Amino acid sequence: MKEAGTPIAMLTAYDYPTGRACESYGVDVTLVGDSLAQVCLGYDSTTRLTLDEMLHHVRAVARGSKNPFLVADMPFGSYHAGPEDTIRSAVRLVQEGGAEGVKLEGGEELTESVRRLTRMGIPVMAHVGLLPQRHTSSSGYRVQGKDESSASSILRATRALEDAGAFAVVLEAIPSKLGEYISASVHIPTIGIGAGPATSGQVLVWDDLVGTWNGHKAKFVRRFADANAEHRRGVLDYVDAVKQRRFPNESESYGVDEEQWQHFLK
Ligand code: KIV
Ligand code: NA
Repeated sequence: MKEAGTPIAMLTAYDYPTGRACESYGVDVTLVGDSLAQVCLGYDSTTRLTLDEMLHHVRAVARGSKNPFLVADMPFGSYHAGPEDTIRSAVRLVQEGGAEGVKLEGGEELTESVRRLTRMGIPVMAHVGLLPQRHTSSSGYRVQGKDESSASSILRATRALEDAGAFAVVLEAIPSKLGEYISASVHIPTIGIGAGPATSGQVLVWDDLVGTWNGHKAKFVRRFADANAEHRRGVLDYVDAVKQRRFPNESESYGVDEEQWQHFLK
């Protein structure tokens, strides 16, 4: 798709219905992102999410997903103790979860793991720029690659990960010019989130896109729908209808044969 100049549309999914939606609406790559931690499970950070929790959701998405390429995020801590540990975690995501590829956050420190996974046939998507799993040590969620040394370290990391076998790379929260420069400097597709319009594709978090997330809205988020407003309207109306005995009506209720009913009353 990169070679053909066809933009790649990637979107997160966290359960069977969102997986089905990605399948039905033409998403190219479905990502079970560890943003799952915040948008579905109410944690304050992705670093809280365990591999078992991730697996539970990957399985649900996989049941509803055939066509899009299905990538699962490797949770914080599941690939940091070394390549062996990384392999065991990635194998679980593929074998038990049904993922087709895995994504991990980081740079050159991951090249050995990426090489090993790639060699054994597990496609790896890299993730550089803003790394949410390192939000504590990077003092929050900030745009990366604004100065020369940060920009060259992101470029160097991307090249190293490509060399190690990564099939694609997510570029998160970097200046558009750097997104464009990196996209032109590597052969693998770049998938941007806050990396400007020149990357090979884009990715968004489901809840940001459809408007079911009420928390912080990053600069790079566009709310393509306002599902929250529709949920609110429906639920408020339902509660009111119950209280006012407007629900259910006759057509929403089961009838009975009048003769039999008279028997029953005797
Ligand atoms: O966890 C996630 O949703 C992600 C994407 C935003 C790239 O990593
Ligand atoms: Na993620």
